[in-house]
Formats: sequence, structure tokens, C-alpha cells
Amino acid sequence: MAILITGGAGYIGSHTCVELLNQGEELIVVDNFFNSKPHVIESVKEITGKSFKFYECDVCDEGALETIFKENNVESVIHFAGLKAVGESVAKPLLYYKNNILSSVTLLGTMAKYGCKRFVFSSSATVYGVPDSVPITESFPLSAINPYGATKLFIEEICRDLYNADKEFSIALLRYFNPIGAHESGKIGDNPNGIPNNLMPLLLRAACGKMPHLSVFGNDYPTLDGTCIRDYIHVTDLARGHLCALSEIRKNTGCNAYNLGTGKGYSVLEIINAFEKANDIKIPYVFAPRRAGDAAQCYSEPTLAKEKLNWTAKLDLVEMCRSSWNFCHRRLAGE
Ligand code: NAD
Ligand code: WQD
Repeated sequence: MAILITGGAGYIGSHTCVELLNQGEELIVVDNFFNSKPHVIESVKEITGKSFKFYECDVCDEGALETIFKENNVESVIHFAGLKAVGESVAKPLLYYKNNILSSVTLLGTMAKYGCKRFVFSSSATVYGVPDSVPITESFPLSAINPYGATKLFIEEICRDLYNADKEFSIALLRYFNPIGAHESGKIGDNPNGIPNNLMPLLLRAACGKMPHLSVFGNDYPTLDGTCIRDYIHVTDLARGHLCALSEIRKNTGCNAYNLGTGKGYSVLEIINAFEKANDIKIPYVFAPRRAGDAAQCYSEPTLAKEKLNWTAKLDLVEMCRSSWNFCHRRLAGE
């Protein structure tokens, strides 16, 4: 019996593969390398000393999924595959609706056909839109402020409808906050194709001279230092959250959403300062205008995941900054 991982060559998927393989799980990994690189698959094997089947294919391809389910005994699916760039989703909404929603519907349909009913979905704090207050609990109102967010919201809704129609399904909707950091080996990390959008990959590019400076979007927010506050979580902690979710859905049916965050918020300037201190390096930065759609503050109330999944984030901001820089000079700097 194996776990199917879609998007396993990506940032969060590859770290989750490492944790699952280290736990002795059998994996089948799928990716089309739209936003990742083939060497990641080899790096996961090197880190763990374990092997697994890999299929290079698009999760929207029903025929390819049929082949995978026919050739393997899939007991659960963790679905990371998806496009995640907010700005790109505004410019190319159909690409996002097609890729994210069609892949999820095709995957869930194939799972139902083959009697595989355990599903972990990569949702996002984006489903809370711009929250009225912080910390954010799972019962906060949901809304989408861009096409990317709309895809996450719709897929969550599809999962709830599916469970209502078939109570044998067991689904965990994991709402990630802001993953940063990298595996301690420095062999895998956040390395999107093209120009990154998220803070840490951009900060790393400024740190290693690939970009002249980091632009800090807005310094007039109603926060302690005027910059936005987010709930940064170490990707290894996030990866471990999937193991806890898997263990829960193996025991109980249902369709439940969980925040995966630390519950602590840090401002952009606090991240820059922590990075400089942890790695003894200066980050060149300038203040730039606010970025459209950014909430001043966004951080989680992660108690539900603690109570129901027995999961809490353990790694601190120093470790997030240290491991990000380790990945940068071991891997990114040479590319
Ligand atoms: P990523 O881009 O690094 O990984 C996604 C992987 O999926 C990539 O390797 C990409 O090539 C693959 N992929 C995309 N569409 C595919 C398709 N149709 N068929 C096969 N493979 C496909 O992103 P990530 O940061 O690892 O994010 C994983 C998931 O978590 C995504 O669904 C994302 O929306 C969600 N998420 C990410 C963040 C974040 O900040 N990184 C936060 C919240 C939620
Ligand atoms: C973090 C903070 C920026 C870049 C996004 C998605 C969310 C989730 C995580 C997928 C913000 C500031 C950033 C830069 C900056 N992804 N920043 N200069 O916007 O919190 O969340 O990724 O689901 O859905 O919206 O993350 O890393 O882009 O930004 O000052 O060059 O860093 O303004 O305050 P965000 P981020």
C-alpha cells in the first residue's frame, strides 16, 4: 500500500516526501516540473537513502492517473500539485482555474473510482482573505481576494461536497501559513522556476547578490514597525504536519480544515533582522510602496491542529533563517 504524492518535486512536497520516507512509508510521486526541477527527486532519494516510483505527468491528465492507480495500490493521496503565484493568477486566471481545479477534480474522481478515499489537500491561509482580526481560527469567514485564493476556496468546497455525498471519505484540508526554511542537508529548499514571489526566496537573492536589494512592501502599516506581519513556519515542521494529518485520516472519516502555523507573527523587518543575526550577513533593502492585496497582519491560532492532530511547530525563526541560508549557498548560489 502506497501514498501518492502529487507535486512531490516542489518545495513543500519534497520536504514531506523526506519525512514520510524516514517514517518508512511507501511513496509514489508525481510531478510535471512546471515549477520545480528533476534533480529534486534525486536529492530526496540521497537524503533518505530510500527509493520510490516517480511519474512525470500532469495531474490534470486522467489517462495518466488511471495508469498510476492501475499499476499501484494507492491507500492515501497528498495533493500538493498546484500553481501558487498570486500575481500570476490575477494575470492568467484561466491557467490557475484549469490547473488547480481540474487537477483536483480529476484526482478525486480517479480516487473514488479506485476506492481510495483518504485525501490531504494543500490549502492556504489565503482562504481567510483579509482577516478582520488575528489570530485566525478555522471558523473565521472564508473569502477569496484573487484567483489563486479562489481555487483553494473552491477545492475546499469540492472536498466538503464530496464528503457529504460519500461519508467514507476522509479529508484533511491543511491551511498553511508562510513556509520558509529548508532541509538541514541544504540539498532541497524553496527554488521555484522563474522569478520568485515570496519573501524568503527574494531575500536570499538579495543576500547572495543575485538581486541588488530586497524591496520591503510598505512601512506605514498599523504594526509595531510599519511592515506587514506574517506567521512564518519552518517547512520541516509543516512537512511533519502532513504525517500527523495522515495518521488522523487513517483513523477517522470526515472533512476537516486545520491551520498549520506557529501562532506567532513576525514583521518583514523582524525577518530581515533575524536573518542578518542568524547568518552574520547584511541584507540590502529599500522601502517600496505597499503591494496590492497585502493584509497588515496574518497569523494563526494553531490550537485545533494541536488538539486533533497532535501537531505543533517546533523549529524557531533562527533555524528558519539559518537553514534558508544554508540551502542558498549550497544549492542556489551555484545555479
Ligand atoms: P511548488 O510550486 O514548489 O510545488 C508545487 C509542485 O506541483 C511543483 O513541483 C509543480 O511542478 C507541481 N505541479 C503544479 N501543477 C501540476 C500539475 N498539474 N501536474 C503535476 N505537477 C504539477 O509549491 P509549494 O510551495 O511546494 O506548494 C505546494 C502546495 O501548497 C501548492 O498547492 C500551494 O498552492 C500550497 N501552498 C503553498 C504555500 C507557500 O507559501 N509555499 C502556502 C500555502 C499553500
Ligand atoms: C510575506 C510578506 C509581503 C516580498 C503568499 C500568498 C499566500 C501563501 C503564502 C500560498 C508580506 C512582504 C514580500 C518582497 C516584501 N501562499 N514582502 N517584499 O503574501 O503573506 O502570502 O504566500 O498559498 O496565499 O498570498 O507571502 O512571502 O509573498 O510575503 O516586503 O519582495 O513579505 O508584503 O508582508 P504572503 P509573501
